Amino acid sequence: MSAIIRTQDLCRSFQSGGETIRALKNVNIEIQEKSLTMLKGRSGSGKTTLINLLGALDRPTKGKVFFHDREITALSERKRDELRRRDIGFVFQSVALISMMSALENVEFGLRVAGVPAKDRKKRAEECLTLVGLYKRMHHRPHEMSGGEQQRVAIARALAHKPKVIIADEPTGELDTHTGLQVVKLFRNLVEREGITIIMTTHDPSMVELADNVITLDDGEVVNE
Ligand SMILES: Nc1ncnc2c1ncn2[C@@H]1O[C@H](COP(=O)(O)OP(=O)(O)O)[C@@H](O)[C@H]1O
Ligand SMILES: [Mg+2]
Repeated sequence: MSAIIRTQDLCRSFQSGGETIRALKNVNIEIQEKSLTMLKGRSGSGKTTLINLLGALDRPTKGKVFFHDREITALSERKRDELRRRDIGFVFQSVALISMMSALENVEFGLRVAGVPAKDRKKRAEECLTLVGLYKRMHHRPHEMSGGEQQRVAIARALAHKPKVIIADEPTGELDTHTGLQVVKLFRNLVEREGITIIMTTHDPSMVELADNVITLDDGEVVNE
């Protein structure tokens, strides 16, 4: 196994009301390729801060993030944007689908934003919705779907441009445990069948059994268990 993402002495501080909040303190982690990694820890422990740095959405105060062997923290804004668009798919807690569009149109729209030619969009969008088990619901709009189904549309949208990595911040946060577990099982399938690397945050202990690797944060530090 080889690491697809690796951090070196990662620190991130925020200034807030004249105070310095050290959200991450010297984090050294490795994410293995084609694995499902979960970042866990209670609220405020630094999960979102860390996953945003892994996904090149934010820059550290100190330290480095490597994607394969390329230091992404040293890249220009434009290069980081390019990396995100090509190699990373994002899934968030609140789903943010476009309510006027069907599931299929939502995924197609994502592909348009990613610069995929019109003639290829429909087929790929259908493929991805099939992959997440929504073949039959493809023409439904978000309000005609359950929370779990909507999250699966969001996952299909994140997958559509064939990213190497999916970054998911609390993807099960607004779902009940049963539906949340279905989303995590879908992630497992994507890792095994599609060879995608998935990193997700959660504060739900029942999810972590399905992970290949669990990283626990406490007050901005990685704790070994
Ligand atoms: N933009 C910000 N400005 C100030 N403080 C922040 C900011 N983002 C996060 N923090 C602080 O950093 C710490 C870690 O936050 P976060 O990474 O969101 O934790 P988690 O996702 O584990 O709940 C918290 O103390 C939080 O208040
Ligand atoms: Mg968070």
